[in-house]
Amino acid sequence: MNIGKIITVAKRRGFIFPSSEIYGGLAGMYDFGPLGCLMKKKIENFWREFFVKTDNIYEVETCTIMSKPVFVASGHLKDFIDPLAQCKKCKSTFRADDLIKEKTGKFVEGLNPEELTEEIRKNDIKCPKCKGELSEVRIFNLMLGTNVGPVEGNLAYLRPETAAGIFVNFKNILNATRAKLPFGVAQVGISYRNEISPRHFLIRLREFRQMEIEFFVHPEKLNECPNFDRFADIKIKIFTREEQERKGKPIEITAEQAVKQKILPNQFMAYFLAKEFLWYQKLGIPAKALRFRQMTEAETPHYSAGNFDMEIEFDFGWKEVVGNAYRTDFDLKSHMKHSREDLSITENGKKVIPHVVEPSFGIDRTIYAILLYSFFEDKKRGWDWFRFPPRIAPITVAVYPLVSKDRLPEKAWEIYEMLKKDFDAIYDETGSIGKRYARSDEAGIPFAITADYQTLKDSTVTIRDRDSTEQKRIKIDDLTRILTQLVNEEIKLF
Ligand code: GLY
Repeated sequence: MNIGKIITVAKRRGFIFPSSEIYGGLAGMYDFGPLGCLMKKKIENFWREFFVKTDNIYEVETCTIMSKPVFVASGHLKDFIDPLAQCKKCKSTFRADDLIKEKTGKFVEGLNPEELTEEIRKNDIKCPKCKGELSEVRIFNLMLGTNVGPVEGNLAYLRPETAAGIFVNFKNILNATRAKLPFGVAQVGISYRNEISPRHFLIRLREFRQMEIEFFVHPEKLNECPNFDRFADIKIKIFTREEQERKGKPIEITAEQAVKQKILPNQFMAYFLAKEFLWYQKLGIPAKALRFRQMTEAETPHYSAGNFDMEIEFDFGWKEVVGNAYRTDFDLKSHMKHSREDLSITENGKKVIPHVVEPSFGIDRTIYAILLYSFFEDKKRGWDWFRFPPRIAPITVAVYPLVSKDRLPEKAWEIYEMLKKDFDAIYDETGSIGKRYARSDEAGIPFAITADYQTLKDSTVTIRDRDSTEQKRIKIDDLTRILTQLVNEEIKLF
């Protein structure tokens, strides 16, 4: 897992750029280039197909800047905090819990600032950059604020989770859709956290992209998940609190058993966990690199009655990629109290405040994992390449003339014009055909079509498979159908 090399290739090929780079960059911010942008859109659409369209879920898109009372009610202005230690010499800032964990291996979430300071002193922890002495630990709020309008003092906040816009619109959504419980509301978009020390490429960012679902459920029907049967038998790996405490390992259990044995709080949570486990494998992450970790009490966010986060094993260790929180009625109740709006639902003549199960996917982290697990340093082939699943590969098909003469470029261009109506396609005639295959492999393009002399005679082309490098000859007339089936994994050609 050569992440340094992957980051270099990802930049050179236009997946990910450091933001504001020509002015020295801005920590914790990355831009998506042409290939990254295409891949991100495909991941989002695949997610919609797999998680949104399958259930009674409505998608919304709400503002990223929201008024202060929203975050008073959500608890973020009070509780969305991390412990900060600053180097007295070079002024660099660090998360105190990270520093302690790195030096001692100790897990110190939940300790107060005085206790953290004591840990730092006791273990003689110094600034990792300049070895300077560290300040006392203080609490830092992660919310990013901004002034809205021309008059100073009109403070608003950049949302720390897309969920915020869903909860405050609950009544609007309900009135507009006449949704009945259980139903979900999804949102894909940007969120912001003023992280003390961004790190690990796309992992801890200050501006990041999320795909979230707030699933609203009758509090007495938490084990009546409509589509649960379809996934009840899926085996997932759960690293429970007990196993973590005794330094054990994740248990393997079906979604159904995990609810029966009360390892998971309800069927809806189990439903999402099972689907996540399957979906990430479809993105190319092996099952052995996936697990769900039950957060310890101290780590669990203030709004959650229990988190089972999907973690992926990265080059630097296991890290959360999907947060699964059982938010109960925390948010709706709190917004009812602060806004004085009635956010209850009437069911069978009785008012209920729904409970919420929330799977929250980090898009940037997902892309990091895909890049990591798709990258092959291939000595045999002679070049490195990305083995992206065709469905999420930024470019699906490359079209080449075998040589750039004898009317082959015109023929290949015609095919390219046809294919680009249905697929993300590129045309390339520069360099030898071998070099072009190497370039398209490096961009993770799963299929390459080549027009050769035979094409002019019988309207067939070769299709080359990136993974096996094998080629087959097919009719131009069949190209669109075959490519569609290959992308949707309906057929195997190689
Ligand atoms: N909505 C959960 C989170 O963003 O952490």
